[in-house]
Amino acid sequence: MTYYDDLTKDKKRVSIFRKAIKQYAHGLTYDLGTGSGILASIASKHAEKVYAYEINPLVIKHYAKQNLQQYDNIKLIEADASNYEFKEKPDVVICEMLDTALIDEEQAQVINNIQKYVKQDTIFIPQSTYDTMKIGYSNIINITYLENNQPTFETYSDEHKYNQTNFSEKINTHFQTEQLIQIKKSGIINTIQLTTYTQVTQELITEPTPMLNPPLLIPFKEINVKKGEKIIVKIEYIMGGGLNTIKTNIRRIK
Ligand SMILES: C[S@@+](CC[C@H](N)C(=O)[O-])C[C@H]1O[C@@H](n2cnc3c(N)ncnc32)[C@H](O)[C@@H]1O
Repeated sequence: MTYYDDLTKDKKRVSIFRKAIKQYAHGLTYDLGTGSGILASIASKHAEKVYAYEINPLVIKHYAKQNLQQYDNIKLIEADASNYEFKEKPDVVICEMLDTALIDEEQAQVINNIQKYVKQDTIFIPQSTYDTMKIGYSNIINITYLENNQPTFETYSDEHKYNQTNFSEKINTHFQTEQLIQIKKSGIINTIQLTTYTQVTQELITEPTPMLNPPLLIPFKEINVKKGEKIIVKIEYIMGGGLNTIKTNIRRIK
Protein backbone atom coordinates (compact mmCIF):
# COMPACT_ATOMS: atom_id res chain seq x y z
CA MET A 1 0.00 0.00 0.00
CA THR A 2 2.69 2.52 -0.99
CA TYR A 3 -0.11 4.81 -2.24
CA TYR A 4 -0.42 6.23 1.31
CA ASP A 5 3.36 6.71 1.58
CA ASP A 6 3.28 8.62 -1.72
CA LEU A 7 0.44 10.80 -0.41
CA THR A 8 2.33 11.69 2.78
CA LYS A 9 5.60 12.27 0.89
CA ASP A 10 4.03 14.72 -1.56
CA LYS A 11 5.56 17.80 0.15
CA LYS A 12 3.69 20.38 -1.90
CA ARG A 13 0.32 18.76 -1.14
CA VAL A 14 1.00 18.28 2.57
CA SER A 15 2.51 21.73 3.10
CA ILE A 16 -0.44 23.63 1.58
CA PHE A 17 -2.91 21.59 3.68
CA ARG A 18 -0.69 22.10 6.76
CA LYS A 19 -0.87 25.89 6.29
CA ALA A 20 -4.65 25.79 5.90
CA ILE A 21 -5.19 23.51 8.90
CA LYS A 22 -2.84 25.58 11.08
CA GLN A 23 -4.81 28.69 10.25
CA TYR A 24 -8.37 27.32 10.51
CA ALA A 25 -8.61 24.07 12.52
CA HIS A 26 -10.31 24.65 15.89
CA GLY A 27 -13.02 23.26 18.20
CA LEU A 28 -14.41 20.02 16.80
CA THR A 29 -12.65 19.19 13.52
CA TYR A 30 -13.64 16.30 11.26
CA ASP A 31 -11.20 14.67 8.85
CA LEU A 32 -13.29 12.75 6.30
CA GLY A 33 -11.41 10.03 4.41
CA THR A 34 -8.44 10.24 6.75
CA GLY A 35 -6.32 7.55 5.02
CA SER A 36 -2.94 7.51 6.77
CA GLY A 37 -4.26 10.14 9.20
CA ILE A 38 -1.73 12.77 8.13
CA LEU A 39 -4.20 15.68 8.02
CA ALA A 40 -5.90 14.62 11.28
CA SER A 41 -2.51 14.53 13.03
CA ILE A 42 -1.76 18.09 11.86
CA ALA A 43 -5.22 19.22 13.04
CA SER A 44 -4.73 17.72 16.51
CA LYS A 45 -2.36 20.56 17.44
CA HIS A 46 -4.93 23.23 16.64
CA ALA A 47 -8.33 21.67 17.40
CA GLU A 48 -9.82 20.58 20.74
CA LYS A 49 -11.06 17.29 19.30
CA VAL A 50 -10.50 15.62 15.95
CA TYR A 51 -12.76 12.86 14.61
CA ALA A 52 -11.04 11.00 11.78
CA TYR A 53 -13.32 8.92 9.52
CA GLU A 54 -12.11 6.17 7.16
CA ILE A 55 -14.11 3.62 5.18
CA ASN A 56 -11.39 1.02 4.59
CA PRO A 57 -10.66 -1.28 7.57
CA LEU A 58 -7.30 -2.33 6.10
CA VAL A 59 -6.18 1.29 5.83
CA ILE A 60 -7.25 1.79 9.46
CA LYS A 61 -5.36 -1.31 10.57
CA HIS A 62 -2.12 -0.72 8.67
CA TYR A 63 -1.89 3.09 8.64
CA ALA A 64 -4.33 5.29 10.56
CA LYS A 65 -4.40 3.31 13.83
CA GLN A 66 -0.61 3.25 14.19
CA ASN A 67 -0.13 6.83 13.07
CA LEU A 68 -2.88 8.29 15.26
CA GLN A 69 -2.69 6.28 18.50
CA GLN A 70 -0.28 8.77 20.10
CA TYR A 71 -2.77 11.67 19.83
CA ASP A 72 -5.12 11.86 22.86
CA ASN A 73 -7.61 14.20 21.16
CA ILE A 74 -8.11 12.15 17.97
CA LYS A 75 -10.91 9.60 17.69
CA LEU A 76 -10.60 7.22 14.71
CA ILE A 77 -13.94 5.99 13.36
CA GLU A 78 -14.51 3.35 10.69
CA ALA A 79 -17.40 4.69 8.61
CA ASP A 80 -18.68 5.40 5.14
CA ALA A 81 -18.81 9.19 5.35
CA SER A 82 -21.19 9.35 2.37
CA ASN A 83 -24.09 8.01 4.44
CA TYR A 84 -22.93 8.10 8.07
CA GLU A 85 -25.22 9.77 10.61
CA PHE A 86 -22.86 12.21 12.32
CA LYS A 87 -23.72 12.85 15.97
CA GLU A 88 -22.17 16.31 16.50
CA LYS A 89 -21.90 19.43 14.39
CA PRO A 90 -18.28 20.16 13.46
CA ASP A 91 -16.61 23.60 13.47
CA VAL A 92 -14.25 22.49 10.69
CA VAL A 93 -14.50 19.81 8.00
CA ILE A 94 -11.30 18.62 6.33
CA CYS A 95 -12.09 16.43 3.33
CA GLU A 96 -9.21 15.59 1.00
CA MET A 97 -10.68 12.83 -1.10
CA LEU A 98 -10.05 14.88 -4.20
CA ASP A 99 -9.63 13.58 -7.69
CA THR A 100 -9.50 15.38 -11.03
CA ALA A 101 -12.93 16.97 -11.63
CA LEU A 102 -14.08 14.92 -8.58
CA ILE A 103 -14.85 11.98 -10.91
CA ASP A 104 -13.01 9.02 -9.43
CA GLU A 105 -13.35 9.53 -5.64
CA GLU A 106 -16.42 9.99 -3.47
CA GLN A 107 -15.64 13.59 -2.42
CA ALA A 108 -18.98 14.92 -3.77
CA GLN A 109 -21.06 12.18 -2.10
CA VAL A 110 -19.30 12.74 1.24
CA ILE A 111 -19.69 16.52 1.00
CA ASN A 112 -23.40 16.14 0.18
CA ASN A 113 -23.90 13.96 3.26
CA ILE A 114 -21.97 16.19 5.69
CA GLN A 115 -24.06 19.21 4.56
CA LYS A 116 -26.89 17.81 6.76
CA TYR A 117 -24.74 18.02 9.89
CA VAL A 118 -22.84 21.32 9.63
CA LYS A 119 -23.42 24.77 11.14
CA GLN A 120 -23.75 27.98 9.16
CA ASP A 121 -20.17 28.92 10.00
CA THR A 122 -18.52 25.50 9.60
CA ILE A 123 -15.25 25.94 7.71
CA PHE A 124 -14.37 23.56 4.85
CA ILE A 125 -10.77 22.65 3.98
CA PRO A 126 -10.50 22.69 0.99
CA GLN A 127 -13.10 25.34 0.26
CA SER A 128 -13.69 24.55 -3.41
CA THR A 129 -12.18 23.29 -6.64
CA TYR A 130 -12.40 24.58 -10.18
CA ASP A 131 -11.87 22.73 -13.44
CA THR A 132 -10.44 23.77 -16.78
CA MET A 133 -10.20 22.16 -20.21
CA LYS A 134 -7.74 22.40 -23.06
CA ILE A 135 -8.08 20.79 -26.47
CA GLY A 136 -5.12 19.15 -28.15
CA TYR A 137 -3.42 16.10 -29.55
CA SER A 138 -2.07 13.12 -27.63
CA ASN A 139 -1.03 9.63 -28.62
CA ILE A 140 -3.56 7.80 -26.40
CA ILE A 141 -6.43 5.40 -26.96
CA ASN A 142 -7.86 5.28 -23.41
CA ILE A 143 -8.59 7.84 -20.69
CA THR A 144 -5.18 8.45 -19.07
CA TYR A 145 -3.82 10.55 -16.21
CA LEU A 146 -0.92 12.83 -17.16
CA GLU A 147 1.93 12.06 -14.77
CA ASN A 148 5.51 13.38 -14.96
CA ASN A 149 4.53 15.08 -18.23
CA GLN A 150 3.67 11.70 -19.80
CA PRO A 151 1.99 11.05 -22.18
CA THR A 152 2.79 14.19 -24.17
CA PHE A 153 -0.05 16.57 -24.97
CA GLU A 154 0.18 19.17 -27.75
CA THR A 155 -2.06 22.14 -26.99
CA TYR A 156 -4.43 23.53 -29.64
CA SER A 157 -6.53 25.89 -27.46
CA ASP A 158 -6.36 28.23 -24.49
CA GLU A 159 -7.07 26.82 -21.03
CA HIS A 160 -10.80 27.29 -20.49
CA LYS A 161 -12.46 27.31 -17.02
CA TYR A 162 -15.71 25.34 -17.20
CA ASN A 163 -16.78 24.52 -13.63
CA GLN A 164 -16.43 25.48 -9.96
CA THR A 165 -17.52 23.29 -7.03
CA ASN A 166 -18.03 24.82 -3.59
CA PHE A 167 -17.87 22.34 -0.73
CA SER A 168 -20.12 24.40 1.57
CA GLU A 169 -23.02 23.81 -0.85
CA LYS A 170 -24.86 20.74 -2.12
CA ILE A 171 -23.16 19.38 -5.25
CA ASN A 172 -25.06 18.20 -8.32
CA THR A 173 -23.08 15.02 -9.04
CA HIS A 174 -24.54 14.54 -12.57
CA PHE A 175 -22.36 17.07 -14.31
CA GLN A 176 -22.72 18.22 -17.88
CA THR A 177 -21.66 21.24 -19.89
CA GLU A 178 -21.15 22.53 -23.43
CA GLN A 179 -18.21 24.86 -24.04
CA LEU A 180 -17.31 26.92 -27.09
CA ILE A 181 -13.58 26.60 -27.74
CA GLN A 182 -11.47 28.47 -30.28
CA ILE A 183 -8.68 26.54 -32.03
CA LYS A 184 -5.32 28.33 -32.00
CA LYS A 185 -3.48 26.48 -34.79
CA SER A 186 -4.18 24.17 -37.71
CA GLY A 187 -3.66 20.42 -37.35
CA ILE A 188 -5.29 17.35 -35.81
CA ILE A 189 -7.07 17.30 -32.43
CA ASN A 190 -8.12 14.15 -30.53
CA THR A 191 -7.90 14.85 -26.78
CA ILE A 192 -9.49 16.94 -24.01
CA GLN A 193 -7.21 17.68 -21.05
CA LEU A 194 -9.03 18.37 -17.76
CA THR A 195 -7.14 20.11 -14.94
CA THR A 196 -8.43 20.73 -11.43
CA TYR A 197 -7.21 23.54 -9.16
CA THR A 198 -7.85 23.39 -5.41
CA GLN A 199 -8.86 26.48 -3.42
CA VAL A 200 -7.64 25.17 -0.08
CA THR A 201 -8.58 28.42 1.73
CA GLN A 202 -9.56 31.91 0.57
CA GLU A 203 -5.84 32.76 0.32
CA LEU A 204 -4.33 29.42 -0.77
CA ILE A 205 -4.79 27.82 -4.16
CA THR A 206 -2.88 24.93 -5.67
CA GLU A 207 -2.45 23.47 -9.11
CA PRO A 208 -2.05 19.68 -9.38
CA THR A 209 0.80 18.19 -7.33
CA PRO A 210 2.26 14.69 -7.85
CA MET A 211 -0.48 13.07 -5.71
CA LEU A 212 -3.26 15.66 -6.05
CA ASN A 213 -5.47 15.80 -9.13
CA PRO A 214 -3.11 14.82 -11.98
CA PRO A 215 -4.52 16.23 -15.25
CA LEU A 216 -6.79 13.83 -17.09
CA LEU A 217 -6.54 13.14 -20.84
CA ILE A 218 -9.77 12.05 -22.56
CA PRO A 219 -9.46 10.88 -26.18
CA PHE A 220 -12.02 11.47 -28.94
CA LYS A 221 -12.14 10.72 -32.68
CA GLU A 222 -9.51 12.74 -34.58
CA ILE A 223 -10.67 15.96 -36.26
CA ASN A 224 -8.70 18.10 -38.73
CA VAL A 225 -8.98 21.73 -37.63
CA LYS A 226 -7.96 25.14 -38.94
CA LYS A 227 -6.57 28.04 -36.88
CA GLY A 228 -9.39 30.33 -35.70
CA GLU A 229 -12.08 27.65 -36.08
CA LYS A 230 -14.54 27.18 -33.19
CA ILE A 231 -15.75 23.86 -31.85
CA ILE A 232 -18.34 22.89 -29.25
CA VAL A 233 -17.14 20.46 -26.60
CA LYS A 234 -19.87 18.64 -24.70
CA ILE A 235 -18.73 16.70 -21.66
CA GLU A 236 -20.68 14.85 -19.01
CA TYR A 237 -19.73 12.65 -16.07
CA ILE A 238 -20.88 11.57 -12.64
CA MET A 239 -18.76 12.94 -9.82
CA GLY A 240 -17.78 9.96 -7.69
CA GLY A 241 -19.09 7.66 -10.43
CA GLY A 242 -15.70 6.74 -11.90
CA LEU A 243 -13.91 7.42 -15.16
CA ASN A 244 -16.21 5.21 -17.20
CA THR A 245 -19.09 7.66 -16.64
CA ILE A 246 -17.30 10.25 -18.82
CA LYS A 247 -19.02 10.96 -22.16
CA THR A 248 -17.90 13.52 -24.71
CA ASN A 249 -19.13 14.93 -27.98
CA ILE A 250 -17.14 17.34 -30.15
CA ARG A 251 -18.72 19.23 -33.03
CA ARG A 252 -17.62 21.99 -35.37
CA ILE A 253 -19.55 25.19 -35.79
CA LYS A 254 -20.61 25.34 -39.42
C1 LIG B 1 -7.02 10.25 -1.56
S1 LIG B 1 -7.06 9.40 -0.01
C2 LIG B 1 -6.57 10.78 0.98
C3 LIG B 1 -6.29 10.46 2.40
C4 LIG B 1 -6.08 11.67 3.31
N1 LIG B 1 -7.25 12.54 3.34
C5 LIG B 1 -4.88 12.49 2.89
O1 LIG B 1 -5.06 13.66 2.53
O2 LIG B 1 -3.76 11.95 2.92
C6 LIG B 1 -8.80 9.23 0.31
C7 LIG B 1 -9.18 8.34 1.46
O3 LIG B 1 -10.59 8.40 1.62
C8 LIG B 1 -11.09 7.09 1.95
N2 LIG B 1 -12.51 7.04 1.55
C9 LIG B 1 -13.00 6.87 0.29
N3 LIG B 1 -14.36 6.89 0.31
C10 LIG B 1 -14.71 7.08 1.61
C11 LIG B 1 -15.97 7.20 2.26
N4 LIG B 1 -17.11 7.12 1.58
N5 LIG B 1 -15.98 7.39 3.61
C12 LIG B 1 -14.82 7.47 4.31
N6 LIG B 1 -13.60 7.36 3.75
C13 LIG B 1 -13.54 7.17 2.40
C14 LIG B 1 -10.20 6.18 1.13
O4 LIG B 1 -10.22 4.83 1.65
C15 LIG B 1 -8.84 6.87 1.27
O5 LIG B 1 -8.15 6.40 2.41
